[in-house]
Amino acid sequence: MTILVTGATGNVGRNVVDLLVQAGTDVRATSRNPESLDLPAEVDVRRADLTDPKTFEQALQGVDKVFLYTQPSAIDGIMAAAKSAGVKHVVLLSSLAVAGRDADHWIARWHLAAEESIERSGLSWTFVRPGLFAANSLQWAQSIKAGAPVRLHYAHSYVSAIHERDIAEVSTCALLQDGHSGAKYHITGGDSITQGEQVALIGKAIGRDLAFDDITGDDVRVELRQRFKPRLQELIQSGVIEPTAAPEIIETRIRYYVEALEGPVEIDGTVEKVLGKPARTFAEWAVDHKADFTN
Ligand SMILES: NC(=O)c1ccc[n+]([C@@H]2O[C@H](COP(=O)([O-])OP(=O)(O)OC[C@H]3O[C@@H](n4cnc5c(N)ncnc54)[C@H](OP(=O)(O)O)[C@@H]3O)[C@@H](O)[C@H]2O)c1
Repeated sequence: MTILVTGATGNVGRNVVDLLVQAGTDVRATSRNPESLDLPAEVDVRRADLTDPKTFEQALQGVDKVFLYTQPSAIDGIMAAAKSAGVKHVVLLSSLAVAGRDADHWIARWHLAAEESIERSGLSWTFVRPGLFAANSLQWAQSIKAGAPVRLHYAHSYVSAIHERDIAEVSTCALLQDGHSGAKYHITGGDSITQGEQVALIGKAIGRDLAFDDITGDDVRVELRQRFKPRLQELIQSGVIEPTAAPEIIETRIRYYVEALEGPVEIDGTVEKVLGKPARTFAEWAVDHKADFTN
């Protein structure tokens, strides 16, 4: 059996490649820049771009199953190429946003567009819908390494951040085992703590007390406008959102932070149901990533 892994340079895709290789599966991995991939020698590496289905025609030959990264702009063409290559099953790295109450939010629409295309294709599928990635905390590495306080938006808001290894293990299960066709797996981290507590746990892992600044209100609004600018422009240009929707996206993010100040968020038991062991905690993630936060 040959499995094609897209997004193999990503946090999740890289772990999926490793798990499949460990399981003795033939793995083909794609990237837009394959020369940047540092994968086990037995992995067959190809150049392919999810916005251009033609680049997948060769890469999909002889492939039985696909781990797919969400990129809805050309998904119908990718699914047609998968079908004509004889692919049997697709596991999509989607998002918990799809199942949230803001179905109109661009993150939900982005992933839902890919899910709907896969459903229409008639191929067997599994949708892996993770919540917030623990790996998002890697954005704090620069401050931590420099000995500067970490700037946290609503530091006392709660999150349940999932370890990329758990996402990859659930995805690998769905690729290698029967019984996952048609499943929509909502997965979260193993605990719910505040962002400030996350910083403290990284400090514990690297043996240093870490400081953070708690940024709230208009200061967050100004920073988010700046940070989201390139991404929002890209979404407007590709037609995913209307130009008028951009301010609302920032307000929605702030509303989430404020609501999450109230207490721990819900922990989902799906990782344990699928893997037979609980989801990893943020403390475990911090220990696994010590090297990312030290010089
Ligand atoms: N961050 C979160 O909290 C969160 C939560 C829920 C869901 N998600 C979803 O999870 C995914 C991010 O996964 P990740 O952390 O592994 O991402 P990542 O580490 O940022 O990696 C992104 C991967 O996507 C690939 N990619 C991007 N555009 C591509 C294209 N046009 N063609 C082919 N490959 C493309 C990149 O491949 P190359 O550059 O090598 O081509 C790269 O391997 C996104 O769909 C995101 O919406 C994220």
